[in-house]
Amino acid sequence: MKPVNVGLLGLGTVGAGVVNLLTENRDEIVRRAGRDIHITRAAVRNPDKARECAVDGMQIGSDCQVIVDDPEIDVVLELIGGDGLAFDLTMAAIERGKHVITANKHLIALHGNAIFAAAERNNVVVSFEAAVAGGIPIIKAMRESLAANRIEWVAGIINGTGNFILTQMRFEGVSFEYALADAQRRGFAEADPTFDIEGIDAAHKLAIIGSIAFGIPLSFERVYTEGIRYLASADIAYAARLGYRIKPLGIAKRTPEGVELRVHPTLVPEKALLASVEGEKNAVMVYGDAVGPTVYYGAGAGAGPTASAVVADLTDTIRVLSTDPSGRVPHLAFQPDQISDAPVLDRADFECGHYLRVQVADQTGVMAAMTRVLADLEIGIDAILQEDPPTTEDDAHVIVVTKSAREGRVLEAIARIEAFDFARKSLVHIRVAHFED
Ligand code: HSE
Repeated sequence: MKPVNVGLLGLGTVGAGVVNLLTENRDEIVRRAGRDIHITRAAVRNPDKARECAVDGMQIGSDCQVIVDDPEIDVVLELIGGDGLAFDLTMAAIERGKHVITANKHLIALHGNAIFAAAERNNVVVSFEAAVAGGIPIIKAMRESLAANRIEWVAGIINGTGNFILTQMRFEGVSFEYALADAQRRGFAEADPTFDIEGIDAAHKLAIIGSIAFGIPLSFERVYTEGIRYLASADIAYAARLGYRIKPLGIAKRTPEGVELRVHPTLVPEKALLASVEGEKNAVMVYGDAVGPTVYYGAGAGAGPTASAVVADLTDTIRVLSTDPSGRVPHLAFQPDQISDAPVLDRADFECGHYLRVQVADQTGVMAAMTRVLADLEIGIDAILQEDPPTTEDDAHVIVVTKSAREGRVLEAIARIEAFDFARKSLVHIRVAHFED
């Protein structure tokens, strides 16, 4: 059979990883795909720059449009990143009847609804396994292997940089800044690392996870997002005293009222599987009503793992070339006319445990006043701890871990506690998750 011609938009770390993988594992890949694969063209910013892969047989230029317009190219790999040029080129490739594979979570989270609608109109597929958790095949698992289940919730460590920083702070005692610089040196932080530490990168990925899990439109702008930038070492230590680890989690949960989509640092019981995922590793736990909890673990970034996902999408796309469009796996797991309008809930409607830490004047009645506030709002308490803060002798830290409670009530409790004269500073609020694993 005629080889499949592929055009690369971008030949940086991931692009070179794809070329190298297609070279090293060519026989295995072709045995699976059933057709040979030729990368005929690549567009790069600087064609004269040395590349981390062999480029023989490839025409390299700086004009991306040439690739999109080339009638000989069947599949375009979008590996540029961002949501500007990448969006225009993706849409142009689709309009010209080309299949597209992307590793770009930003692009899919913000423009996926428009991209998939255009793809369906043009009978092409857009694949994005590498966009979520790098080399972990989580899209395929949720979209195909769990197709018999009603997915109840998904919880994942989906930003390696955030997980690496918190792991280093806990085990090596290094500062936030030092750990972040280390993540940048090792190459898994985003070009703009605020996307990692403000939770935006994880929110991009969670928007995609939520859509595939529940069959709702991509709703990035509705993802509640908190980063790890302001986490204090003291809270990592107190959490440990109470039997928890703090992990950067993305959570997508179905409730009777709608869907929770949230990204924030989270206390996870130390015996939970996700608590043991350390360093830059990613892990995603999916709970299906028939299968129960399932866990997917691995590398969420890097040339090899990302290329592994991109090339797997390429082999699927090659099979798609000879199938009827009506028999293809839908982009968002559910048939396009079956997308649900379940609302994405506001923060006040989230329901989970809460870790509250307040610095107070060390005087009689403080604990009683705080617990009265919680009781008045019908918020149950799981654990309570009083500690001397490292710096001020006359103050105390009071830490309360609540039972599962509606966030709106907890925010009201926080406002009431902060209004007491004994409360020195604004209260630290971190959510708590309990998983059935
Ligand atoms: N910056 C991302 C991370 C890379 O740290 O997980 C993969 O998306």
